[in-house]
Amino acid sequence: MQRVLSQELPNLIEKKVYVRGWLNNLRAMGKLGFLLLRDRSGLCQIVIENKEELKKIADLQPGSILSIKGKVVPSNSVYKVEIVDPEITVDHEIKEIPPLEYYKPEINAELEFILDHRPVALRNRQIGAVFKIQAELAHAYRLFMHDKVSAVEYFAPNIIGASSEGGAEFFNVDYFGYTATLAQSSQLYKQIMVGVNERVFALMPFFRAEPSQTTRHLSEGKQFEFEMGFFESWEEIMDVQEGCIKFMLSHLQEACSKELELLENKVIKAPMDVPFPRLTFKEAQQIYFDRTGVDERQEPDLSPAAERELCAWSSEKFGTDLVFVTDWKTEKRPFYAYPKDDNPDLTNTFDLICAGTEITSGGQRRHTYDSMVEGIRLKQMDPANFADYLSIFKYGMPPHGGFGMGLERLTMTFLKLKNIREASLFPSDTKRIAGNRIKAKIFFGAENIRNEIIHQLREHHIDFEHLVHEPTPTSEDSARVRGSKVEEGIKALIFKGKSTKKNFQFNIPSHLKVDMKAVAAMVGEKCEFEDPTVIEERFGLQIGGIPPFGNLLNIDTYYDQQILEQQKGAFNCGLLTESIILLSKDLVALVDPKMGIFTKRVSTN
Ligand code: 4AD
Ligand code: MG
Repeated sequence: MQRVLSQELPNLIEKKVYVRGWLNNLRAMGKLGFLLLRDRSGLCQIVIENKEELKKIADLQPGSILSIKGKVVPSNSVYKVEIVDPEITVDHEIKEIPPLEYYKPEINAELEFILDHRPVALRNRQIGAVFKIQAELAHAYRLFMHDKVSAVEYFAPNIIGASSEGGAEFFNVDYFGYTATLAQSSQLYKQIMVGVNERVFALMPFFRAEPSQTTRHLSEGKQFEFEMGFFESWEEIMDVQEGCIKFMLSHLQEACSKELELLENKVIKAPMDVPFPRLTFKEAQQIYFDRTGVDERQEPDLSPAAERELCAWSSEKFGTDLVFVTDWKTEKRPFYAYPKDDNPDLTNTFDLICAGTEITSGGQRRHTYDSMVEGIRLKQMDPANFADYLSIFKYGMPPHGGFGMGLERLTMTFLKLKNIREASLFPSDTKRIAGNRIKAKIFFGAENIRNEIIHQLREHHIDFEHLVHEPTPTSEDSARVRGSKVEEGIKALIFKGKSTKKNFQFNIPSHLKVDMKAVAAMVGEKCEFEDPTVIEERFGLQIGGIPPFGNLLNIDTYYDQQILEQQKGAFNCGLLTESIILLSKDLVALVDPKMGIFTKRVSTN
């Protein structure tokens, strides 16, 4: 028999059908069992009278995979129809109780808890609806750009050579020993592609090192990118943006009525026939002042409170939740922003604010070589880092501009969600990577690491000596200046797994030699010494200065048992010129390493 989906059942009254899916939940009422089965189209209800059938599923947990044959009949439940006389096959039984009640209409838990169990929480139908809508927003964007704007999609790199937006909010990555940057946007590439196709668009990942934890910032997201050349007025970019938002909203009404209903139809207002108001930055500040008495008219930026107030203004006055703010100060916009011909302190740029939050930044770009070099220099950046990008201006660029709109910001504001993390499947921020809590704080650089070690020792009330001395590259030098025994010195070695390339830290008494076979046995792969230049790049430490605190570097840390044979342990605490001496047992208790034996005894006489 061919499988049908739960949404097809209303058209199959009195027919025998075959459905498959996940057990969502099971209620017993007297002798009847009411089973809800979840498939990709939604839920269906199955009524079970037969004792044998009921027994098959009686002690199964949500998530069990079932295949069911039965007859469709009308019902006065919310599902309108139900399946009766089922024959149930349990394809995979689940006995484990899920960590959260995702199968209920709404998960009654804090966002943090929901994120801690993200993969399972996503099965909740309300949460699932948010991401189905997000997918339709992306689809609508592509439709609009391709069909209505005749723009060509491009795919830009994400690992790039230099910051694309300036500022400090970018991540560096170790790229074969060189430093590369994760793209903050595909800004430079979309401008390059205007030189090819005039009108281009993309849906691109972006990475931002946003150090603060807010309800509107992520460290990784997606941006709807757009760029066009040859306009008569730069305001045409805003026309495209406005048309795009309206198209997306009407697409949602058509494609996602079921999901919107699940979310109680909480959607922004943006009537088709109401243009989004366009205010200059100066006018926007004045409106905020007039409405609240809060004077931010000398500020270079709009505060989040001002953004909320402007949308309240737009909603009251025009009945739309969106408002454009234009003509931002040159000092607050990136190097590529086009200075106004009649006032170079201001730019032909805009932000689109939706229900109180910026969702888009855009505008006209500088388009001559000299102007672009000037823009880069004005932001204290080096034109030499932009050679590829600058070449397009040497060989002819028309007046052009575009915008970048955050997918998660758009989803959040469209659906009136309170926190941007609700609009990201696996959010990364200062506390999480791809949804997972970051377990250990990672420290970088000799001073930071020394400070953290001392901080932890004090916090745990551990007695220690902290010595400042001449640089001591060898164990013998160290023992001499510390006035301690060579055997008390701890050598911290950083290895690299030959197949995984993962780093490990192995700590041994200074007078012993490491046994690489024993190391390989402990970590499960052959290892070699990590390259000192990589150690320097990755951890900000020099060989000889590495302390036995691999935990602070977020790498697996191992101690040789024989460290505990000495009463005291001594090590350089990040710097070659500073040592810490303490009881070995205190050190082991604090670091909590994996213990083992991975040294060869060498004769000391
Ligand atoms: O305002 P931004 O930084 O502008 C640009 O990236 C330009 N290249 C755009 C242009 O074409 N001129 O970023 C654009 C949008 C923001 O308005 C916001 O929606 C989103 O990207 N965004 C973020 N969303 C969540 N968390 C972050 N840390 C974000 N940074 C930017
Ligand atoms: Mg912006």
